[in-house]
Order: sequence, then C-alpha cells, then structure tokens
Amino acid sequence: MTISLTDLEKEKDLALSELQQVVDEESLNQWRLAHLGKNAPVSQAFATLATMSKEDRPLMGKSANTVRVALEAGMAEKREVLHQEALAQALQAEKLDVTLPGRPAQPGRIHPLNQVLRQIYRTFGDMGFQIYRSPEVETDDFNFTYLNMPPYHPARDMWDTFYTNREGVLLRTHTSPGQIRVMREYAPQDIRAILPGATARYEQLTARSEIEFIQVEVLVVGKGITFAEMKGTLLDFARRTFGEHARTRLRPSYFPFTEPSAEMDVECYICGGKGCGVCKGTGWLEILGCGMVHPLVLQYGGYDPAVHSGFAAGMGIDRSTLMRYRIDDIRHFRNNDIRFLEQF
Ligand code: PHE
Repeated sequence: MTISLTDLEKEKDLALSELQQVVDEESLNQWRLAHLGKNAPVSQAFATLATMSKEDRPLMGKSANTVRVALEAGMAEKREVLHQEALAQALQAEKLDVTLPGRPAQPGRIHPLNQVLRQIYRTFGDMGFQIYRSPEVETDDFNFTYLNMPPYHPARDMWDTFYTNREGVLLRTHTSPGQIRVMREYAPQDIRAILPGATARYEQLTARSEIEFIQVEVLVVGKGITFAEMKGTLLDFARRTFGEHARTRLRPSYFPFTEPSAEMDVECYICGGKGCGVCKGTGWLEILGCGMVHPLVLQYGGYDPAVHSGFAAGMGIDRSTLMRYRIDDIRHFRNNDIRFLEQF
C-alpha cells in the first residue's frame, strides 16, 4: 500500500483532531496504536520509502518524519494533561473542609477513689514515704497469725472474712498483712512506707458499707520511733489533707498488732466541728486506726524489738471519699456508671 504526501497531511490533521477526543490513559493508548503503531499511516509511509524513486524519497521521508514528530509531541502533551487531571481529581477526593467544627473529644475522668488515693500518695511522698504493693489474696498467717492473732484468737472475729476453697487462703480483710511483707523484705533497714490496696470483708451491702473497699496502711520502723512520732506524722497528714487548721484527736483503742493502739478522729470537715448529719452530731469523723507496732509483729517481720520500734496506721478511704464528695451511696464507686463517674 502506498501513501501520498496529501494523505500524510490529512492523516496528521485527523490524528491531531482525534487526539482532542482522548479522555484517559486507555483511549490514549488506542490512539497511539492507530496513529503511531506498526500499521499506522506514518509507519507505512516509512515502510514504502525503500520502494520509492531516489527523487521522491527525501521529500516523503522528511514529511513522514515531520508528521511523526508532531504526533509524538501531541501525545506527550496529552499525557501530561491527563496526568494533571488525575492529580486534580485525587486532590479533590482528599479535600478536607477545615472550616467544619471538630468532634468533641470525650476526656476520661479519674475515679474519685483514685483522686483521693493520689492525694494521699503525694502527701506521704512529700514526707519521704515509699509506696509498697502487697497481695490482695493472702494467707491466714499473714492476715492474722503474724499480726499476733493465732488461730484460736477471738480478735479474728473483728474481721468477717472471705475464705477461699484453698485451706488457709483468704481475701485480706485489711492492708496490715503488708506490714509483715515489707518488714521481711527490708529488715533490718529503716522503713517508711504506705501500702494502698483493695481489701474485702464479708459484710451486708448497704449504702455505707461495701464488701470490697480500699485501705492505705502506713508503716514506719526504725530505731527510737515513738508514739510522739506517730502523732506528729498523722497530724501532719491530716492537716495536709483536710486543711492546715484541721484538729485531730486520738482515742485509745485496741488492735492485736499494735500496743498501745488508738483511733484518730479529725474534726468534721463538713460542719467544721459544730455537729451535723455526716458526723452524727459529734463534730468528729473517725479516719484511721493506729498504734505502736507490737513487739511480736516486729519479730515476725524479722526485727529485734529490743533495737527497733515502729508505728502503723490503717485507713479506709471509701467512706471518707463519700463524705468529701457528699456521695449518697458507696455502691456507686464500683458500678461503673458513666453518669456517676462523669461528675468528678
Ligand atoms: N488494720 C486495722 C483495720 O483494718 C487498722 C490498723 C492498721 C490499726 C494499723 C492499727 C495499725 O481495722
């Protein structure tokens, strides 16, 4: 098949006008096959050069070349246009409307019990105490025997205990067994530690008492630790917690693992000591039990009571948190009701 110079010129116009219709990579490819492929008129023009006379050949060669260059340039240009269009489309699809209002983040809250706990950690931390964790599931020995309550001891009845089916294993009824654990770990060094954690008692569930609650144990052991040190430390704690003018009082009490023992009251921070429903008209709130660590307990902990002495205190934080935030039911603490938790 031969092709004339006019045909070639027409082919160029046709090809360039068809190029206008090309809208995507696919149709561009078809266009390329039709106008620059093996069977395209330009390619045929080159193929017929060999059969042409010497006079005609240069003209035809030159024309075919011009057409091919024009078509290739057109194609390159088109490809660039398609590329830009695709880019613009992608950008459009990814577009963000930065003027839209944001979705409000839902911040979590710190549970009121943890807020109180953290404050206690800070207060004792400032006084140089360390925080020590001890197990919530304990043995009979740690919960009672090493705290000077041998198996027959009636004082065990002071705590209604959850026993497990394993002989001698129970849920600790107080954080005091931790005293023995810290002492055994650190004897004969000095100790200034607080031991926070969950405790459990087999009691009737009411608005004011839960079977699970949190206690913080305080333990100081050293040479020449006296009752006066205990009183000073606990008063300092009370003032940092309830205000610098808070008044406290110690009442004699009894615990098998301390001797002498006391309970500390703080002036009711709801009514300022005048007497109200929260303090039941007394003007005082009981906040902790305390006393000098019993010599036998020191011994169980690995200390020589002739050399070392110490004091201990234990406070439940659930009830005081109730009072502080005027929460009407202790069971709210562990219900995980977001409507309750959101208020703190
Ligand atoms: N463990 C006692 C209780 O739960 C409190 C206490 C701790 C008393 C330390 C004295 C010393 O009632």
